[in-house]
Amino acid sequence: MEKYILIIGACGQIGTELTLTLRERYGNNRVIASDIREGSDSLMNSGPFEILDATNYDALEEVVAYYDITEVYLMAAMLSATAEKFPMRAWNLNMNSLFNVLNLAKEKKINKVFWPSSIAVFGPNTPKDHTPQHTIMEPSTVYGISKQSGERWCEYYFKKFNVDVRSLRYPGLISWKTMPGGGTTDYAVEIYHKALSQGRYTCFLKEDTSLPMMFMDDAIRATLELMEADAENIKVRSAYNLSAMSFDPAEMARSIQKHLPDFNIDYEPDFRQAIADSWPKSIDDSDAQKDWGWQPNLILT
Ligand code: SER
Repeated sequence: MEKYILIIGACGQIGTELTLTLRERYGNNRVIASDIREGSDSLMNSGPFEILDATNYDALEEVVAYYDITEVYLMAAMLSATAEKFPMRAWNLNMNSLFNVLNLAKEKKINKVFWPSSIAVFGPNTPKDHTPQHTIMEPSTVYGISKQSGERWCEYYFKKFNVDVRSLRYPGLISWKTMPGGGTTDYAVEIYHKALSQGRYTCFLKEDTSLPMMFMDDAIRATLELMEADAENIKVRSAYNLSAMSFDPAEMARSIQKHLPDFNIDYEPDFRQAIADSWPKSIDDSDAQKDWGWQPNLILT
C-alpha cells in the first residue's frame, strides 16, 4: 500500500524538520503538512499544506480522506512552561488531538500513528539518574500529566483495538531551523541565538540544572527508525525512553565559550526551575537500543 503521511503541528520546532526529512525520503507530495498557522518558507514551498485544528475531529477526518492518508505524526502540543499558565487549554489540545488521531486509527481510516511523549512523564519521585524505562511516574506538571495520560491511552488503544501507535519520550531538543516555544528546555536553543546576537544570556534555570538533551538530527532519525521498525519489534507501546547526553547550563556556556571566548552567562531562575527540578537528569534507553537498534550519533563537545 502506498504511504501518504500527515504531519499535524508541522510548523513547530520538531514538525518543521520532520516534514522536510519525510518529504526528502518519501516524496514531497506524499507528505502533507498541517498546522493552525503557516510556517517557514522551506516548509510551505516544498509540498502540500493545510490549515488544520487537530482538536476538530471532522476537519481532521476530511483532510485524511482527501489525501488518502495512511500515517499520522501528531506533533501539535502545548509545552511545559506554557501549559502551567493555561492548564485547561493544554489539556484540551494535548489530549483531544490524541484521541482524534487514535480514533481515526481505531476506525481503520489510518494505519499507523506517531505521537511524541517526553521526559516530562517523570516526576519528583522518579529516580533521577539513568531513569529506567519502567519506574515511578508521578508527573507534577500539567504537560507531564497530559503526556503520562497520553502514554496510557496509546498502550490501551494498541492492546484493545490493535492500533499501531508508536512513541518516544523525547529529551530537550536542540535545533536551529525553527525556534521552540513554551518549553523548559528551550534555554538550550535560546542561548545560541543570544550568544550570537548579544554576546550574553540570562538563563531561567540555575547553572547546575542538568537535563537530558538531544540534537534534532538524532531525534528525527530516532522517530523514522521507530516508525520503520517491524511491528513485532516494538515491545513498548506506551513510549520509549530515548537518550543522547545530559548537561547543565554552565557546561553549555563553556562549550559556547570555546567558539566565543567573550560570551557571558548569568542566572535568574523563574517558575521553570521547579519544572526542571521535577525531571530526570539522565535517561536509560536500553530498551530502545535492544528492541529497534537505537544509537545516538551527536553529543555536546
Ligand atoms: N522539551 C519540552 C519542554 O521543555 C519537554 O518535552 O517542555
